[in-house]
Parts: sequence; C-alpha cells; structure tokens
Amino acid sequence: MISKRSFLLVAACTSPFVLGLTACKKGGSGADANEIVIGEVAALTGGTATFGTSSNAGTRMAIDEINAAGGLLGKKLRLVTEDDQSKAGEAGAVAKKLISRDKVVALLGEVASGRSLEMAPIAQKAGVPMISPASTNPKVTEAGDHVFRVCFIDPFQGTVMGKFAISRGWKKVAILTDAKQDYSVGLSQFFKEYFAANGGTITSEQSYSSGDKDFKAQLTKIKADTPDAIFASGYYNETGLIATQARELGIAAPLLGGDGWDSPSLVEVAGPAIEGSFFSNHFSTEDQSPRIQEFVKKYQALNGRLPDAMAALGYDSAMILADAIKRAGTTEGGPLRDAIAATRDFDGITGRITLDPNRNANKPAVILTIADGKFRYVETIQP
Ligand code: PHE
Repeated sequence: MISKRSFLLVAACTSPFVLGLTACKKGGSGADANEIVIGEVAALTGGTATFGTSSNAGTRMAIDEINAAGGLLGKKLRLVTEDDQSKAGEAGAVAKKLISRDKVVALLGEVASGRSLEMAPIAQKAGVPMISPASTNPKVTEAGDHVFRVCFIDPFQGTVMGKFAISRGWKKVAILTDAKQDYSVGLSQFFKEYFAANGGTITSEQSYSSGDKDFKAQLTKIKADTPDAIFASGYYNETGLIATQARELGIAAPLLGGDGWDSPSLVEVAGPAIEGSFFSNHFSTEDQSPRIQEFVKKYQALNGRLPDAMAALGYDSAMILADAIKRAGTTEGGPLRDAIAATRDFDGITGRITLDPNRNANKPAVILTIADGKFRYVETIQP
C-alpha cells in the first residue's frame, strides 16, 4: 500500500507546476510526459570536487537558460545530477541508476577520464547518448558510437606542451605521473612521444598514486638530473603538493602540466611554489571576445567566482545536447545520437565545435601561466 506521504510526493513531482522543487530534482520520480530528463554524473565531493562543482554549475546555467527560453520540443528540461564522490567505481554505478531509475535521455559527464571510461560502456550498451564535457583521454570515445566529447584529446594536449617546452629552449624534462589516473598516464605518454621525437631528453619518469601526500622520494630522484622543467601530468590536488615539496627540496625548475591543473585549489595549496609554471587548458577568462566576457560575467554573478574550463565545457556540453535534441525533433536514442554526431561549427564558449567521425572535437588549446596567484593567458595553439 502506498503511504499518504509518498503519494503526495509523487503527485507533486509529476505536476508541471512544481518542477523546480529540490525533492523532484534528485531523481526517483522517473520521466514525466511534460519534461525531458537529462542525467549528469559529476564529482561534487572528494579529491577532485572542484571539477564536479564547476561542470555542474556550467551545465545548470545552460539548462536554466534553455528552460527560460521555453524549453525544447514543447517540454522543460530537468537535470538530475549524481555525485560520484571522485571515487573509482561510483561513476559507473550512478550512470546505471540514472538510466534505469530516471530514464534519462542522455548522460552528461564525467570530467575525469577514468570515470568517463566507467560510464561509457554502460551508456553505449543502453543506447543512451553520453557527452563528456572534459575527458581528454582518447580511449573514452572509443567505447562506442554513442559516446561523445566536446573537448580536444590528449595526443593534441601532450603535443602542445611538448612544443611549448621546446620553444622555451628546455632540453631536459622529467616526468611525474599519477599512475592511478588514465588521464595522467596518457598525457605523460603523449608529451614524452612528442618531446623525445623532437630533440628533447626525458631525464627521469616517476610516478605516484592519487591521494598520495609525500612526493619527496620521486622529487629527489628528479632533482639529481637537474632537468629544465618537470612535466607533472596529474590533477590539481597532488600537483599543489608536488610544487610545494619541489621548492622545499631546492628545485627551481618550472612545472608543466595539462588541464587537470585547472582549479582555484591549485594556487590555494601551492601559493608561491606554483608561480611561473605553465599548463594547457580549454579556455581563458582573459579572452576579450564579447561572447566569453558575457559568459564570465553571468557565471560570476550566479556563482560568486570566475568560471574555470570545466564550467565552460559543462555549459557547452549541455548546449550541444540541446541543439541536437532540437535538430532531431525527438529524444529517442538513435536519432538523438545521429543529431549529436552531426554537430558542425557549434559556437561554444570554449571555441567552435565540430564533432569528427571519432566523436571528438578538434579545438585550439590555450597555455596559461600562474602569476601573482592568478591564471594568466600566454598563447593559443591551433590543432
Ligand atoms: N582532461 C581531464 C581528464 O580527462 C579532466 C579535466 C578537464 C580537468 C578540464 C580539468 C579541466 O581527466
């Protein structure tokens, strides 16, 4: 027998007038004929929490804008977000839940490549299109024809940083990899391939595991070869500690990295130790184009902080999905998949997005440096 309380909740959640209620947003109510349910998997807590909070804020901003403009196909969009806690194993579990419980028409997420790799085969098998905003490891979209991303991939990102190191005249570079993250392992590999093939020498290859706090043993080995720079391909948390400990050991060489550094926490943890280092990214808040400045202003007003790359990519991923739903004229998996695959010259916040036959986006990267505690734009590298 259905209790009075749960009956009321179900009734409230199926009423078109109360779709904004928090109780309805957390899923559990299944799809309603008057709404389109979109699932999002994000790390809202745990070791990479700024990835999820930012991508979620950008995604929500897009969904709210679409609903304010009248929704899609005569319906409102409802975003159901699940927190995977930055934990291995969780992203796959919550993706399954979103598909079976909430009957989502598509999945947005994850940011971290390892977690997108958990979700991808699940989305593929269910015939539910998935768009990762920010996972750059090439293997993610290889999971099948329902898996897309709106960002560039790491063979490009590794090359960008390899070229940059060479352009600075750095001949000897040490590599420090997070062996627990597919992203970091791949990025180190692609950097090494380019750098070594273009006259550079890799002095040492060291590794650690996500969550480690002490990097002195690896850094001591790195220091012995006096490299010109250290390529630290992991995420922001460990990178902040690596920078601090490198300076404590008297290593003055700059650190180089990829988009995984992008978090306000990097500077909070490392302070002066990260000044003068460089990383590649998808977006710079210093880009003066009116479109980007408008996004930056609106995001800042809504969230009280500047958008980072995940925020901009989260926004773009939701907007690309919405554009495809509109073109498909339906949310059915097959036609929706085809419409996403047909995305051409989409004018995103992170650049013009065309999805290639491998469901990846060919886009420029920016290089940023850290100066006076801020991420400052250095240059743009075209693919
Ligand atoms: N590219 C990273 C990955 O694939 C995730 C990331 C994207 C982190 C953008 C920060 C900014 O794991």
